[in-house]
Amino acid sequence: MRSYPPEPFRIKTVEAIRQISFDERKAALKNARYNVFGLRSEDIYIDLLTDSGTGAMSDRQWAAIMQADEAYAGARSYFRLAETIGKIFSFKHFIPTHQGRAAEHILSTLLVKPGLSIPSNTHFDTTEANIQARGGRPINFVIDEAADPTIYHPFKGNMDIGKLKAFIRETGPENIPFGMITITNNATGGQPVSLENLRQVSEIYRRHKIPFFIDACRYAENAYFIQQREPGYSEKSTLDIANEMFALADGATMSGKKDAIVNIGGFLAMNDETLYQRACSELILWEGFPTYGGLAGRDLDAMAVGLWEGLDESYLAYRVGQVAYLGDGLLAVGIPIVEPPGGHAIYIDAKRLLPHIPRDEFPGQALAVELYLEGGIRGVELGSVAFAHSDPDTGEMQYPLMELVRLAIPRRMYTQAHMDFVIATLTRIGERRDSIRGYRITYEAELLRHFTACFEPL
Ligand code: F0G
Repeated sequence: MRSYPPEPFRIKTVEAIRQISFDERKAALKNARYNVFGLRSEDIYIDLLTDSGTGAMSDRQWAAIMQADEAYAGARSYFRLAETIGKIFSFKHFIPTHQGRAAEHILSTLLVKPGLSIPSNTHFDTTEANIQARGGRPINFVIDEAADPTIYHPFKGNMDIGKLKAFIRETGPENIPFGMITITNNATGGQPVSLENLRQVSEIYRRHKIPFFIDACRYAENAYFIQQREPGYSEKSTLDIANEMFALADGATMSGKKDAIVNIGGFLAMNDETLYQRACSELILWEGFPTYGGLAGRDLDAMAVGLWEGLDESYLAYRVGQVAYLGDGLLAVGIPIVEPPGGHAIYIDAKRLLPHIPRDEFPGQALAVELYLEGGIRGVELGSVAFAHSDPDTGEMQYPLMELVRLAIPRRMYTQAHMDFVIATLTRIGERRDSIRGYRITYEAELLRHFTACFEPL
C-alpha cells in the first residue's frame, strides 16, 4: 500500500473535535431528517463535506492578517494581492470577489444572454446555475472516459475536442459568448486537465474569437498533476506550469477557498480592458469598491500569502499524496471509488457498493447516512439526490451518470490517523453492506434540492 506523505508543516494551533455516541448520532440524524447538511458541526467527528473554505491557514497568513490595510480605496492589501495574482495568473486585470460564485455571477451578468451557450468540460453547479439564471445554456463536453469510474486516465478531466468543435460548428460562435474549462474537474472526481488539452481548447476558442475563461479554483493541484504525469513537464515548476496554463486563456474565475487556502475570498481576472471596466461597475453594485470587492483587507492579504502556499511543491506532494493514500486504502478494503483518485477528494461509487438499492431509493444518500452513523464522518451525496431531474418534455426521470459520495479533504487539517479512521469506518460499512437500505424524500425544494431535502429510511 502507498505510504503516507509526511506533512511539510508542524501544528501550532489545535481545534478540539469529539466523537459523540452512536445513540446521539442516531438522534442527530433523525433531527436533521437524514440530511447531513442539517447536522451541527459540533456533532461531527471528521467533516469531509467540502474542501472549500475549510482548510487551516498558516502562521504567515495569520501574520499577514494582522498587517492588513482596511482602507476603503487603494489599500496596501490590495496591491499585495495584485502583485501575487500578476505573477501567477498574469492576466492584465482582476477584481476581488467574496467567493468564486460572485465572480461567476459578474461574468454571467455581463456576457450571457437568453439562448446563448457556454461550453466547458463540466461546469460546477454554481457556474451552471449562474449561466442559467441569465437564460444561458451550460453545456458539458468532458471525455467519455470520465463516465466510467473504473477506467484509469491520467487526465480524466479533459475536454472532448471533437465534441467541442462539432458544437461550435453547429451552434455558431456568435451564439457562444465565452467558453470555459474547470481545472481540476470537480464534478467528475477532481480530475486534472492536461496542458495539451488546454492548448487545443484555447486554439479552438481563439480561432473562433470566443473568449476563454478558466475556472481556476483548483489550478495548483492541476499544475501538480501536469508536472507528475504529462510528458515534458517533470522539470518545470508548478509556477511555470500555472503561467503556461493561464497564458492560454483570456481570463479566470477563482474561488480562493480552495487552492488559495483561505476561509473566504475569490476573484475574477481578465485581459479585456472594456470587460474589466464593466466588471468594476457590477462589482461596485454587488460586492464593493474595486480594490476590496466583497472582502476585508485582511482577507486580501490572507489570499495573497495563501496563493503562494497553495502552489508550493512540497505542500502539493503532501496534499495530492494524502488524497491518494485515502483512495488506495479504500480500494484495498474493497470500497469502489472513482479511479484514479482526484486532487482534493475521493468519490465513492455508491452504485457499485450498494447494488441492491435502486437509484430512486438513493444509494448515495444511504451511504452518506451510514458514514455518519458508523463513524461520525460527513461526506456529501453527489448522485440522484443532487442531480436527478424530470425531463421538462417527457416528465421522465433523468438520472446522473454516477451515484457518488464525495469525501473532500480540507487542506492541512486532518492527519494520517484520521484517514485510517475513515478507511476503518468504511471497512465496517462494506462488511454489512447488504443490510443497508434506501431512502424516500419527504420534502424537496424546487432548486438544488440536496441542500435542504428531508428523508425517511425505507
Ligand atoms: N467552481 C468549482 C470547480 C467549485 O468547486 C466551486 C465550489 C466553485 C466554482 C464556486 O466557488 O464556493 O467559492 O463560490 N465548490 C465547493 C465544493 C462549494 O464543495 O466543491 P465558491
